[in-house]
Amino acid sequence: MLGIETSCDETSAAVVAETGDTAKPWVVRSNVVASQAAIHREWGGVVPELASRQHIRDICGVVDKALADAGVGWRDLGAIAVTQGPGLVGSLLVGVSFAKSAAVAAGLPLVGVHHLAGHIESLVLQNGELPLPAVVLVVSGGHTSLYQVPQPGVYEFLSRTRDDAAGEAYDKVAKLLGLGYPGGPVIDRLARGRNDRAIELPTTRLTHADRNAPALKGDLDFSFSGLKTAVLRHVRARQDAGVTVFSDEEVGDICATFQRKVVTALIDRTFAAARRYGSRSIGVAGGVSANSRLRAELKAHGDAREIPTFVPSLALSTDNAAMIAAVGLRRFRAGGRSSLDLNADAALTL
Ligand code: KG4
Ligand code: ZN
Repeated sequence: MLGIETSCDETSAAVVAETGDTAKPWVVRSNVVASQAAIHREWGGVVPELASRQHIRDICGVVDKALADAGVGWRDLGAIAVTQGPGLVGSLLVGVSFAKSAAVAAGLPLVGVHHLAGHIESLVLQNGELPLPAVVLVVSGGHTSLYQVPQPGVYEFLSRTRDDAAGEAYDKVAKLLGLGYPGGPVIDRLARGRNDRAIELPTTRLTHADRNAPALKGDLDFSFSGLKTAVLRHVRARQDAGVTVFSDEEVGDICATFQRKVVTALIDRTFAAARRYGSRSIGVAGGVSANSRLRAELKAHGDAREIPTFVPSLALSTDNAAMIAAVGLRRFRAGGRSSLDLNADAALTL
């Protein structure tokens, strides 16, 4: 399966093959990612029009390299999978148009894929099939959502963020601290070894998930915009008090405190969902799953509660086409095919 992913600011193509082993069904033959981070850094975030133009420049070379790295030609492929949505519509259109053209030219079937299904299947690509039912948190720059997976390939929506995605909060806090884009990796690094209780930041006030309380609609939701605003207020108050240049220590403390709050919210709700739905495992995927504190706390909480936890490798946690090819293989085996009417859908639901 050739996978193609262009939903945001990474142009990616990958070749994923079936193993014949139902416990670990797929193997990555190649996974090429051309990141546009350097282009968008200058603007402090992704500029949609620049993203789509860069996808057009990169897509042919990226696909050629994915085929070459895998040592295959077009004739060796069985089908093409492409991200249909959600994402930036101009970016999605580049991948969808390319995939449709290639499918016609090479006489291959086409499979449209949901981007978040890709993040969920990145866990299976990395670890093999998870013990089911599983609860999976997809946490990235665009999404913070919980899903239940009762059977392979079935994704039941549980909750999502009411405002910013966790990665978006990282990116916005990094921007207001002058740390550049993307913010997640740099905040993760600067927070290391710093005081994570240095400043007062409010905890998001949603109804807290409580194992003894009846399930309330929305109590597994996330919210991060209040936390970002609290960091902004703190920085403004310090500036009003006459601080013009923040020391590295102070920036590190702000990062560490912000990160503790984000990770606690993510872990609390994910484990509350796992308890409520009797999950046999927990997965965390998406760009923010690269976060060192989130990975450590996930493992520690899982060990303490004797529930296995799974994350993708770092290469499979941020946007990539191997995860899209994996969903494509799952759908293809279940008879899923897309027609040439397939269109990019910026708000596609799962
Ligand atoms: O999945 P992804 O590559 O793209 C989206 O679909 O959004 O995720 C990118 C997001 C960015 O917001 C970035 O700041 C965040 O993931 N991220 C991190 C880390 N590495 C990337 N956030 C926290 N800690 C990290 N180590
Ligand atoms: Zn993503």
